[in-house]
Amino acid sequence: MDAIEMIKDRRSVRKFKKEKVDRETMREIIELSRWAPSWANYQIARYTLVDDKATLGQLANDGVKGFVYNMKTLQNATGVAVLSFVKGKSGRLDQAKLDLMKEELSDANATIWEAFDAGIACQTFCLAAHAKGVGTCIFGVINETSIAQAVHLPEEETVAALIAYGYEDGPHAKPTPRKEIDEIMRFI
Ligand SMILES: Cc1cc2nc3c(=O)[nH]c(=O)nc-3n(C[C@H](O)[C@H](O)[C@H](O)COP(=O)(O)O)c2cc1C
Repeated sequence: MDAIEMIKDRRSVRKFKKEKVDRETMREIIELSRWAPSWANYQIARYTLVDDKATLGQLANDGVKGFVYNMKTLQNATGVAVLSFVKGKSGRLDQAKLDLMKEELSDANATIWEAFDAGIACQTFCLAAHAKGVGTCIFGVINETSIAQAVHLPEEETVAALIAYGYEDGPHAKPTPRKEIDEIMRFI
């Protein structure tokens, strides 16, 4: 699959076959995901992969604020990635980097860069999965605290998103509308 096809053909997938994605395939997807760029190359994104029914059920019940749409997608999925990030790193230079760069390069809005890194990691994961024939759906309507408890997330991490995954069932999801190029782009 070439890059253009990979970008244009990825869809949010909400209907999955019963067949599980094997763990080796998920390792290959994470191997690709780790090539995502990140602030100062800190690589703060972490992926907790859940593929057992009991935890999937628990996340469907407690992890999506009772949002029925997401509950249904999760009940139907054979796996979900809890995308998290290590707190307190991106946007802040550590001593080794401060020795090389000026302190002003540390960013006062550091937390923005944590979310930024997580977003890039998220899209890289979804594109890598798509290239491997695995469908994904990002969830932003989530209960971070319940999810962290359910998957025993390390203290130093925060949940950024859930990404349901599995093999798509039925015809490929239809493209959703996009704004026209001239609405989102300007030359100066
Ligand atoms: C940050 C973020 C949060 C999202 N949250 C949800 C969600 O909670 N539930 C859901 O079904 N889709 C969710 N989506 C998927 C969007 O609805 C979807 O990406 C958008 O409609 C475009 O469709 P496409 O992904 O098929 O191109 C989310 C997407 C993003 C990027």
